[in-house]
Amino acid sequence: MTKVSEWTILKFPDPRLREVSKPVEVFDDELREKVDRLFELMREQRGVGLAAAQVGWLERVFVACCGYDPEEVKRIDANTEGAHVFINPEITVHSDESVVDSEGCLSFPKIYAQIKRSAKVMVRAQNLAGEFFQLEAEDLLSRCIQHELDHLNGDLLPDRMPKDERTKYKKALRDMEKEFKGNL
Ligand code: NI
Repeated sequence: MTKVSEWTILKFPDPRLREVSKPVEVFDDELREKVDRLFELMREQRGVGLAAAQVGWLERVFVACCGYDPEEVKRIDANTEGAHVFINPEITVHSDESVVDSEGCLSFPKIYAQIKRSAKVMVRAQNLAGEFFQLEAEDLLSRCIQHELDHLNGDLLPDRMPKDERTKYKKALRDMEKEFKGNL
């Protein structure tokens, strides 16, 4: 596997994005180092969330930080205000209410599709020390959690798109496929 410092964000249709990630079993310094790198890559690309699978690390981990200013915040880690690390996460409750909003993904740089998500979720996960915690999320964080959890199951943006959005982005997706093949 690639060195952590050399990780880059995989782009659709890299087949690793379709893998189902495995639970984290060891909570050690290496895990912390990998999580730090996820935050770094997320911030560099001005993302609000990044799943381990997006760098080819196929364990059930994702990070999130909503509403920061990438010009101002030069480094994000698990202790940064508003930052979250979710290890072995599970959504235990989805609200009945849902919201349609624009949603992007660092593995699909040019796509912002209208996607329907639960307005609120309750998530249960472990932190870097392996301790369980529960969090109720709404707004962007709720959307982010649902999106990143999809990555851990190999589910991607196009799978969530309604038919009209899939039609709209058909060419963009095909172009990404061509580019990927060209880079092989
Ligand atoms: Ni994504």
